Amino acid sequence: MRRKVVAGNWKMNNDLNGTVNLISDIKKEMTEKSLTAEIIVCPPFTNLETANALLKDSHIRLGAQNIFYEESGAFTGEISPSMLKSVGSEYVIVGHSERRTIFGEDNKTINKKIKTAIRHDLKPIFCIGETLKEREGGITFKVIETQVKEGLEGISESELKNLIVAYEPVWAIGTGKNATPEQAQEVHKFIRALIQKIYSASFAGQLVIQYGGSVKPENAAELLSQPDIDGALVGGACLKADSFIKIAEAV
Ligand code: 13P
Repeated sequence: MRRKVVAGNWKMNNDLNGTVNLISDIKKEMTEKSLTAEIIVCPPFTNLETANALLKDSHIRLGAQNIFYEESGAFTGEISPSMLKSVGSEYVIVGHSERRTIFGEDNKTINKKIKTAIRHDLKPIFCIGETLKEREGGITFKVIETQVKEGLEGISESELKNLIVAYEPVWAIGTGKNATPEQAQEVHKFIRALIQKIYSASFAGQLVIQYGGSVKPENAAELLSQPDIDGALVGGACLKADSFIKIAEAV
């Protein structure tokens, strides 16, 4: 059976105090609950070091929201892989739709970032998903296929052993309008079949594919009960400890 992974993408929310409070609330919520899912939190860069210190005595894992693909140098405003490692990041989100749409990241850039993460032993959470226009235009599978093929180009199966894929339909992010379990399952199944075609059945069979896009305590159980949905990448609902942990409990 595949492991289940619930990750909270805090996006640009919570200053240092907010981080201390939210992590302490999450830890409190988790006591007395025996969660089977692996839990990851992804605070902003500036709060990773503090978060890491606060998470030392817990099972909660730490991730960053972005990475740059160079090791060091004149790249004003960017954060290198070794910087992320040095503050305790184990995971890194790559290719989030907000990075793609607001900051112009394309599949080529995302491919470089995934390669860089792997080189530094950071575990990539690779985000893919179609826009509403693409879904309505009937090209969802085509878009997903291109994102997967170009995002993972030149990377071998063994290098991807720590990969997590997150299917996040752009139209479901922050809109309150989640994909139905059937819509999500259909795409997750497609992604797994595609990974099997590119790599192998055994790799595809153990790959964790998260769903993201308006996941809340009310819809988590139904989404997560689908056979190819192995967890959630949560935005808005991860900013409150009780709703985040309720989602994890739904696994
Ligand atoms: P929401 O849960 O707020 O829709 O955000 C999802 C997301 O983008 C997680 O990466």
